[in-house]
Amino acid sequence: MKKRPSLLAAAVIFTILAGASSLLAEPAESRTQTQKVVASPNDKIVLTFDLAEGMPSYAVKFQGKPVILRSALGFELKDGAMKTGFKLLDAKKSAKDETWVQPWGEQRNVKNHYNELTVSLQGDQGRELRIIFRVFDDAIAFRYEWPEQTGLKDFEIMDELTDFVFPSDPMALWQPALRPQQSEQLYFKTRLSELLRQTRLEHGDALAGDNPKKDPIKAVTTPLTIQTDDGVYLVIHEADLTDYAGMELQPEGNNTLKCYLVPWSDGVKVKVSAPSVSPWRFVMISDRLSDIVEDTAMTALNLNPPCRIADTSWIKPAKYVGIWWGMHLGKYTWDPSKPGQYSSNGLGATTKNTREYIDFAAKHGFSGVLVEGWNKGWARDWVAHSAEFSFTEPNPEFDLPGLAAYAHSKGVDLISHHETGAVITNYEAQVEAAFAQCERLGIHHLKTGYVGDEPRVKRYDANGQFIGAEYLDGQYMVRHYRKVAILAAKYHIMLDTHEPIKDTGEQRTWPNFMSREGARGQEYNAWASDGGNPPNHDINLVFTRFLSGPMDFTPGVLQVTYPQYKKNNRVNTIVTKQLAMYVAFYSPLQMAADLPENYEKYPDLLQFILDVPADWEETHMLNGEIGEYVTIARKERGGEDWFIGSITNEKKRDFDLPLNFLTKGKTYVAEIYRDADDADWKTNPYAHKIEKQLVTRDSAFPFHLAPGGGEAIRLKPATAEEILKAKD
Ligand code: NOJ
Ligand code: CA
Repeated sequence: MKKRPSLLAAAVIFTILAGASSLLAEPAESRTQTQKVVASPNDKIVLTFDLAEGMPSYAVKFQGKPVILRSALGFELKDGAMKTGFKLLDAKKSAKDETWVQPWGEQRNVKNHYNELTVSLQGDQGRELRIIFRVFDDAIAFRYEWPEQTGLKDFEIMDELTDFVFPSDPMALWQPALRPQQSEQLYFKTRLSELLRQTRLEHGDALAGDNPKKDPIKAVTTPLTIQTDDGVYLVIHEADLTDYAGMELQPEGNNTLKCYLVPWSDGVKVKVSAPSVSPWRFVMISDRLSDIVEDTAMTALNLNPPCRIADTSWIKPAKYVGIWWGMHLGKYTWDPSKPGQYSSNGLGATTKNTREYIDFAAKHGFSGVLVEGWNKGWARDWVAHSAEFSFTEPNPEFDLPGLAAYAHSKGVDLISHHETGAVITNYEAQVEAAFAQCERLGIHHLKTGYVGDEPRVKRYDANGQFIGAEYLDGQYMVRHYRKVAILAAKYHIMLDTHEPIKDTGEQRTWPNFMSREGARGQEYNAWASDGGNPPNHDINLVFTRFLSGPMDFTPGVLQVTYPQYKKNNRVNTIVTKQLAMYVAFYSPLQMAADLPENYEKYPDLLQFILDVPADWEETHMLNGEIGEYVTIARKERGGEDWFIGSITNEKKRDFDLPLNFLTKGKTYVAEIYRDADDADWKTNPYAHKIEKQLVTRDSAFPFHLAPGGGEAIRLKPATAEEILKAKD
C-alpha cells in the first residue's frame, strides 16, 4: 500500500462563519409569529420550526413540496414533560461553509456547508431547552440541548417524542431492531404501512422472524432508507451518539415513524446531567440516489466534533488476512481442546499456522494478519463462559511475543482480537493492561467483538452481582464503546469492532475507531441455517448499513463452494462480485477473507484484491437502484488509478456507463474482471473473464452482470508503450 503523506488532523481549508442573521433572508414561509424558517444554502430544502400553542414541531419542504409534515419535538421526563407550554426566548441564525480533510476515508475533502437556526425555549417550571437546526443542500438535522440551569440538573428521559410524519405511504428499506443477533438481519423493502402491519402481527405472515408473538418487530434500525412515489429519497439516521441511547424508529399510523430510544434494563431511556446535548437526528433528502450514497456518511461526520487526536500519522488503512474463515468453515477451532468440526486440525491460533499466514501476507504484500483464538478463555463453551476470557495471556500453543517479532521481521503486523463475550465488566477490568501490552508488542490493529445474548449484554456491579441485561445500542453500551475507542487512541490502537454500536460518524473525532461490522457479513455464508446472504443482501447493504460508514464485511471469498466443510452453505455470488465488493463496500480495514490455499488456487483473481486500495481520494455512485444493483467508482488516495465495482442481485444487467470522471486527455488501461456470458451464481459461479482494453473519459463502457454477479475494474494511466502496442 502507498504511504500517505502525514496530514494535519482535520485541517480546515476554508471557513466562513456568518453569525449575523441578516445574511440569511427569511423566506416567505415564515408566516405566523410562532414560526421560524431556515433554508438550505441552495434553497432547495426549507425547514419550518413551529411553536403553535406552546408545542414545538418542525416540517420540511423539498423543492417547494412537503416531504415531512408537521412532526413532534420534545420529551417525557420521569418528573414531568418537555413537550408543551413552551415560550420562545430567542431565535438565532448562523451559517458555515468549510472544507476539512479526512485522515482516511471514502473521500479526502469533506464539504460542510449549512445554515443554522437555534431556538431557545422555556417550558414548565422555567426549564430551558434549546433546539438547533441545520439545513444542508441535501439534508436537515436537529439536536436538543439542555443548557446549564438551576431548575434542571440530573434527570431521566422516559421517551423522546421526535417523529417523522410523511405526506404519503412511501417505500422503506428496513431492518428489524433489537432482535437476537442484533443488527445482523436481512432487510425488507415494503411500504411504511406494511412495516406498521408487521409490528402489529400476532401470528401468520411475519417477514422477519418465524415467531412474531414471541419475538415481534418493535422497531427498525437506522439508517432507514425511504423512497417516495414522487422520486424523492430520504434517509433517517443520527450523528454524534455520545452518552445517550441509540435511536430506533417505530412505525405508527398516519405514515409516521417515531423515535424509539433503546432503554436501560430499568426502563429509563437516557440518564442526563445538564448541560448536555442529544445526538443529531438527521434526514437526507434528494431526488438523486447518488447524493444519498455519497453524502449520508459525510453528513454524519460533519455533525461530529473535529478530530481529538493531535497526530494521526499512525492511523493507517490496511488490507489484512487472518486465521478466521477457517474457524467459521469448521476447518479449525477457536478451542484448543477440540479438533475442527470437519477436520482434525483443531486450534487455528497456533504458532505454526500463524507463521504460515505471516509468510503468505508478506509474500503478497498484505499488511496485517488477524488471529482469533490466540488468548485464553476459548476452551469450554465460550459463549456460556465468556467471563473467563483473558486479554493478555496467550494459549499455550501461541508464542505471542515471538510471533509479533516474526511478523515485524517480515514487514507485517499481527492484528489482535478481543472477543469480549459481551461481559463488559470482565473486559473493562483488563482492557487497559491489554492495550498497553499491544503497544509494547507493536500491535496496532485490534478487532473486538461482543457475541453474547444479543441484542443484550449482562451488566454486573463491582461485586460481580448481576444488575440487568443492557441493549448493545443503549446508553450503557454507548458509554462503553466510546470509552474503549478513547483508550485505544491513548495506546495507538486502531479498532475494528464487531457486534458494534452503530456508526454515527464519531470517527471524525476518533479516527482510530476505523471500522466495524453491524450487519450480516460474510460469516453468515459459512454457517447460517437459512443458507447465507441472498444475492440482494449485498446491494441492500450499500443502501442502508454502508450509508452510516465503513463496514468490515470481510469480502474476497473466491472458493464460493466448500462442500468438504459445509454441504448446506456456500457464498451466494459469482466470484467477480466478491472482487467488486472491495470497491462497492467501503472499509479502511479491508479483509481478504478466504483461506491462503484458495488464493494460491486463483492467482488471477487474487491480483485484483492485491491492487485495490483501502483508502480513497473521491467516490462516485455511477448508477443503481435500491435493492437491485449499484455501481461505484473510487479514485485511489494519493494516486492516479480509478477502481469500479458493480454488483447486482439475482437479476442480470446490461448497461453502458460513461467514464467521464477520468482525467481529460489521458488514456487508461482498464483491467476488467467480469462475468462470463454463461455465469450464474447458482449454477456457474466461477465463470469469469479477465480482459484488458484502453479507455478514455469519452468511452461508453459496456457492463454485463450475470445473475448474482459483478464486475471489478482497475483503470490505470496507460504508458506510451501500452498505447503504441494497442495501435499495432
Ligand atoms: C462474531 C464476529 O463477527 C466474527 O468475525 C468472529 O469471528 C466471531 N464473533 C468470534 O469472535
Ligand atoms: Ca458478527
